[in-house]
Amino acid sequence: MVIILVGGQWGDEGKGKVIDYLASKAQMVIRTQGGNNAGHTVVTEHGEFKFQLMPSGILYPHCTCVIGNGVVVDPIVLLREISQLRERGIEPKKLFVSERAHMVMRYHPLFDQLEEESRGDDRLGTTWRGIGPAYSDKVRRIGFRIGDLQKEAFMRKKLAFVVGQVKNPVLTKLYGQDALDWESMLAEYMGYAKELDPFIKDTFPLIHDALDSGANILLEGAQATMLDLDFGTYPYVTSSNPTAGGALTGSGIPPTKVDLTIGVFKAYTSRVGYGPFPSELLDEIGDQIRERGHEFGTVTGRARRIGWFDAAVARYAVKVNGVGCAALMRLDILDDQPLVKICTGYNFRGKRFDYPLANISHYKHCEPAYESMAGWQQQIGTARCWDDLPQACRDYVERIGELIGAPIELIGTGPRRDQFVIRGRKLFD
Ligand code: IMP
Repeated sequence: MVIILVGGQWGDEGKGKVIDYLASKAQMVIRTQGGNNAGHTVVTEHGEFKFQLMPSGILYPHCTCVIGNGVVVDPIVLLREISQLRERGIEPKKLFVSERAHMVMRYHPLFDQLEEESRGDDRLGTTWRGIGPAYSDKVRRIGFRIGDLQKEAFMRKKLAFVVGQVKNPVLTKLYGQDALDWESMLAEYMGYAKELDPFIKDTFPLIHDALDSGANILLEGAQATMLDLDFGTYPYVTSSNPTAGGALTGSGIPPTKVDLTIGVFKAYTSRVGYGPFPSELLDEIGDQIRERGHEFGTVTGRARRIGWFDAAVARYAVKVNGVGCAALMRLDILDDQPLVKICTGYNFRGKRFDYPLANISHYKHCEPAYESMAGWQQQIGTARCWDDLPQACRDYVERIGELIGAPIELIGTGPRRDQFVIRGRKLFD
């Protein structure tokens, strides 16, 4: 069985926990896009793990973990995550990185920062991890792939060209920075090559053999639908396609092999960085949710913007990704609220809209239409089945399911692995 897992809002929906649950029953987990702008937190009996590049299945010894061709890999970060796992007694024996995956090179975070600074008030609020510049170079065909690390002569020639003739003139003439020394970079990257060599592989046969044998394969999405380069709030998006289509091109799995797409949503909404966010709460309710939910970025530590659940966003994500089953996470964060609101659509210039508007200048100015419901004002962290949840809480979940057009089959009631309510179909059984 092949399952794609996607974020249905602006990221940080709690995907790590759903992936961890599914990975326990998967034979293979594949990261398909993004890079170390992602931050997935998994809490196990051995403590908390925060991954940026590592597929979340890495904590299960039976699971083969693949960093797919669609990911941009910063070798420094990957090596750091491998050594952090080793320090905690976990040897990533079944970790493989597609040799087609592009690298975030040492200069990409620098360009990310310089480009953001030059945008002034129009900056995007990127994570400064070099993600946009790395994907841009991939498209410009001046990127380095992980497999290039195994070809020293090729690396030498290409670094001389890309750094010497493309990057340095821009760095020195446009940004007034020092030129980079490509020869010292070559030595540095050859060092990474040695350490990463056992993990680099043409993952195409590995993935297709697993498909042919009927293995349970999970395609682990990072970021989310509203950060998608095409379907998100462009230009306030990431530089990849975190929607279901991106999971396919980012792994080499054909659409005909996919059995189910799971959309992960948070019981409210959050966003990091700039850009439109119609249901944003700029009041003390937003502050309360931020505090209770520890809504500060895993990667950058930035305070996340908070808002009510936006069913128009989620409905759009259900359509764009073909979501067949939804997970509603972090429901416990709303435990104290006397009243909960759901944005059901938008009003703009006298017209009603059921989906986010493509024109972000309009989207920025649309008025959210809300529906209010009674809160449950009860702690739900010990609930393990649907009937354990208070009636008002079940009403909230059911209403969201109706409004978004997908059944909610997984509910997160706390950070621990066991704090889950599972309804409906069995996944990967
Ligand atoms: P970039 O991906 O670093 O280029 O950042 C582009 C936008 O995507 C910024 O608004 C980031 O805050 C946002 N972003 C990137 N990765 C994540 C994520 O994993 N969770 C939430 N927001 C993200």
